[in-house]
Amino acid sequence: MLTEQNAGCFRVLVCVSGGGTNLQAILDAKAAGRLENAEIVRVISNKAGAFALERASKAGIEGVCVSPKDFPDRAAFHSAFLAAVDEAKPDLIVLAGFLVVLPEEMISRYRNRIINIHPSLIPSFCGTGYYGLKVHEAVLARGAKITGATVHFVDEGTDTGPIIMQKAVVVQEKDTPEVLQRRVMEEAEWILLPQVIELIAAGRVKVEDGRVSVM
Ligand code: GAR
Repeated sequence: MLTEQNAGCFRVLVCVSGGGTNLQAILDAKAAGRLENAEIVRVISNKAGAFALERASKAGIEGVCVSPKDFPDRAAFHSAFLAAVDEAKPDLIVLAGFLVVLPEEMISRYRNRIINIHPSLIPSFCGTGYYGLKVHEAVLARGAKITGATVHFVDEGTDTGPIIMQKAVVVQEKDTPEVLQRRVMEEAEWILLPQVIELIAAGRVKVEDGRVSVM
């Protein structure tokens, strides 16, 4: 909620498209007393009825839906989306399973203040067309033995921004895409994302020449 009380804290906006288990990991970390100086001020979904919005509402956080279906064209959607982002006055924008290509204006306005979680070890199995279950299908089809997750800053490319943190996960012989997806979430994504937000909120993440160092 955008209130006077949280006006002075580190403001985190989370963008989601689906189930929101990564959002839940952030909410759980906050409820457990972590993310001390950070406040989740708003959740934006591009899909009406996304379960992530319910998770936000249960946690008492304002959920906003900005769906492209409600606008005549991409430009109108982008400007409404950007308005909803700006209104939250975010210090950090977290793409937690947000499957929308961001307007370029937003990327330059929030340079090094937008992070994304991707379910593979970038630069493997990333880029256009690699999202959600498709990533794990590709990992299994290639016979990779190790996969994982990556949190990175967002730049103009697809999954090309500076890498902040990665965690490896072992692929098992009998994995299906669904089983592997779940293991990558449990062993990597849900751990990495709150941890990176904590580090950024504490001012411990620095980007220089496209490379990240954690202090
Ligand atoms: C997560 O696995 C996330 O890494 C992935 O979508 C899933 C969303 O799940 N994101 C991408 O593939 C982005 N390229 P969630 O809604 O349960 O957090």
